[in-house]
Amino acid sequence: MEQYVIKGGIPLRGEVEIGGAKNAALAILSASIMTDETVTIENLPDVRDINVLLEAIAGIGAVVQRIDKSTVKINGSTIGDLSVDYEYIKKIRASYYLLGALLGKYKKAIVPLPGGCNIGSRPIDQHIKGFKALGADVDIKNGAIVAKAENLRGNHIYLDVVSVGATINIILASAMAPGRTILENAAKEPHVVDVANFLNSMGANIKGAGTDVIRIKGVEKLHKTEYSIIPDQIEAGTFMFAAAATGGDVLVKSVIPKHLEATSSKLEEIGCIVEEFDDAVRVCAPGKLHHTNVKTLPYPGYPTDMQPQIAVTLAISEGSSIVTESIFENRFKYADEIRRMGANIKVEGNSAIINGVGKLTGARVSAPDLRAGAALVIAGLSAEGITIVDDIVYIQRGYERFEEKLKSLGAEIEKVSSEKEIQKFRLRVG
Ligand code: UD1
Repeated sequence: MEQYVIKGGIPLRGEVEIGGAKNAALAILSASIMTDETVTIENLPDVRDINVLLEAIAGIGAVVQRIDKSTVKINGSTIGDLSVDYEYIKKIRASYYLLGALLGKYKKAIVPLPGGCNIGSRPIDQHIKGFKALGADVDIKNGAIVAKAENLRGNHIYLDVVSVGATINIILASAMAPGRTILENAAKEPHVVDVANFLNSMGANIKGAGTDVIRIKGVEKLHKTEYSIIPDQIEAGTFMFAAAATGGDVLVKSVIPKHLEATSSKLEEIGCIVEEFDDAVRVCAPGKLHHTNVKTLPYPGYPTDMQPQIAVTLAISEGSSIVTESIFENRFKYADEIRRMGANIKVEGNSAIINGVGKLTGARVSAPDLRAGAALVIAGLSAEGITIVDDIVYIQRGYERFEEKLKSLGAEIEKVSSEKEIQKFRLRVG
């Protein structure tokens, strides 16, 4: 089991390059099997979730050719199996995008039903509602979702909750369904737009992605394309908060500043200077950080995937802050962990009340999930003394070369896998 060991208290300084968006890539890789021609995808992040999904795609018979770390070629003409193995869905929920992609292309898909996860129960009723509206029969059999249709056809679909996953899955299933699909109350996240742009580059006719209403005119077939994935707004935001929490000055490069507006404006509210460039943002924290309140909301609101990162930063800011989680039910699991580092945080229902303490102190903590794990690393970077973060396998699901990028900004962080290595680190950093 690997861990991060961190000596905190060093302000991060320098430049960091952001990779492709994991959540966009998961959907785009699934969508790439919808043509029989070869699709080339660039700016792929080299993270665990992506590598597992590529295995799942190869597992159903597609040809997956990794050109380099960030480029892959996929050819879906050899797919022989419309059933995705449980092994993959267990590791990444988002392999359920293969449901929409396979159903849209072959009119049949069998994908194991994803269970709950560490951030709470995660129903997929809206995905199923959409597939049914397009004419598919959807049953749950032996723990799997079995979706099939004689013929799919466009329809008018209203989502009861704004769901990124359901929006993307319905776009995939309807891209080649004859007629028009109108999807209302759609999610507006940048990766929804990226998936629509990708499919349009394959010949689809999707309009309105990025607004509440998406209109899809089914096309007969999709063709090859070469496509570069958008930058990861959550990876970028994580480095922005790491800069803030350590009192640093970091230029976060290869980003789309517009996608970071909710994060940038919260950083400014708590006392940071955020400068926007064409494809970079600079975050500088020259003095003490202040309290604020924040509520997670669908895009363009403050992202739930940035909630733990702001919470650990508020834990060391002056005054009292309230963080309200309105998307997922169980996203404060890290509160117990940062309390061990000296934070004053109390969770009541879907809110966390945080009374800022000047500094945290290093402790041994455990990553409860991907984003909370990254937030604990930020806590460790800002804390006095040594922090050990266990269970970093969660962090590796979504952050590429995390410790290397942090080191390049001056952080004292090592990836270790034994007590002996931890001791060695302690001796080295003194
Ligand atoms: C995606 C992101 C995840 C992010 C989340 C919210 C990926 C792979 N993951 O997850 O990182 O935290 O968006 O921005 O892109 N819901 C239902 N029924 C459904 C679907 C969703 O009730 O059929 C509810 C969920 O329980 C949740 C809310 O809708 O409360 C939003 O979920 P959704 O947007 O679907 O999240 P994901 O697509 O799973």
